[in-house]
Amino acid sequence: MAKPEFEFDFDTIVDRRNTNCGKWDTMDKKYKNSQLIHLGVADMDFRAPRQIIDGFQTCIDHGIFGYTDLNDAFYDSFISWMKRKHFTEVKKEEIVFCPRINISSRLCVEAFTKPGDTIIINTPAYGPLYDAIVKNNRNVLESRLISENDRYRIDFEHLEQAVTPNTKMFLLCSPHNPVGRVWTREELEQIGNFCLKHRLILFSDEIHGDITAEGVEFISTLSLREEIRKLLVMAVSPTKTFNIPGVILSYLVIPDERLREQMKSEIDRIGMHNPTVFAVTAAEKAYTECDGWYDAALAYINENDIYTRNFFAKHMPEFHIYPREGTYLLWMDYSGLDCTEEELEEWFLKKAHVSVYMGTVFQEDGRGCIRMNIASPRALLTQAYEQMANVYDELKKKS
Ligand SMILES: Cc1ncc(COP(=O)(O)O)c(C=O)c1O
Repeated sequence: MAKPEFEFDFDTIVDRRNTNCGKWDTMDKKYKNSQLIHLGVADMDFRAPRQIIDGFQTCIDHGIFGYTDLNDAFYDSFISWMKRKHFTEVKKEEIVFCPRINISSRLCVEAFTKPGDTIIINTPAYGPLYDAIVKNNRNVLESRLISENDRYRIDFEHLEQAVTPNTKMFLLCSPHNPVGRVWTREELEQIGNFCLKHRLILFSDEIHGDITAEGVEFISTLSLREEIRKLLVMAVSPTKTFNIPGVILSYLVIPDERLREQMKSEIDRIGMHNPTVFAVTAAEKAYTECDGWYDAALAYINENDIYTRNFFAKHMPEFHIYPREGTYLLWMDYSGLDCTEEELEEWFLKKAHVSVYMGTVFQEDGRGCIRMNIASPRALLTQAYEQMANVYDELKKKS
């Protein structure tokens, strides 16, 4: 049973320390400091929807945590979500379970390319997506996103010059982490046409696809024309949307049967067969019973976005915040401060007592920017921003 008073509470600060939490405990250990406010790792500091928690409770009360398989409701719930929210038709047979996108990107590289092949990725880049290339001994073709009129765009001219017959794949992040772009249909078609022309497999990581800013429409690559869909491996998950990444659940949608069979045999090769005991419940509940929570979470994040921009404009105007089209991550340019990344990190950790991701986490092209997660209770953000504002003078003196 839904408990509305809890369901939409994004304001309560939940203490996540001492829960083996990647965002709070691991980062405390990394920085050897348990007094920091962490705005780095990309999950939300909000409790998951009540319907999901109740679903887990039913599993727990049953008390048997045996091997679990996917059922029709699992597929149907995702299919209905894609239709309802993204006006995209997905067929059951096109869906391939894989526990994590960070695994599927690597398996996709393994399945469709050989060591020494070249793979394209836009930079700045989400680390594990970049690692899918370099840790598999493939060459990276870095396609630097160009910041123009306060918006990043893909440099197709450079791509056309740089692509070679050795280039076999394009790893796309859509929406883009960290720069926050939601690619338009025209841009996606251009990417698709480029892949068709150069016979590249297009891997599209759409984990942030449900999280868009007000008035921005996410377009899934699955809605592109059939010719492009035939070279597409689309990866998606409800884990960012409903803040359940610890459940470990994602899937691929692969319209082309030949590619799908190749990917399935790659997954089979490494012996990855069953979802966790909570995964099916999580997907079913999330996609069929949590629209209210989802709408409220997006609205709250939008308000946090506005609040953050106002605060920074007033108290720390040298941080330039790029427009956020998607994700709950703000990409902020600090070149107005004229300090190095090392100096800025030192200031964050030692003076402001706040941790964020420094731009070079996303490769060298991220230098000059930071990524800050705003999916937290507003009071926590306020505390972090006030801590920063209180010592802002010390940072400015450096510049
Ligand atoms: C773009 C992107 N892809 C994938 C992931 C992780 O997905 P998974 O937990 O399914 O490996 C993240 C998490 O931050 C992400 O930002």
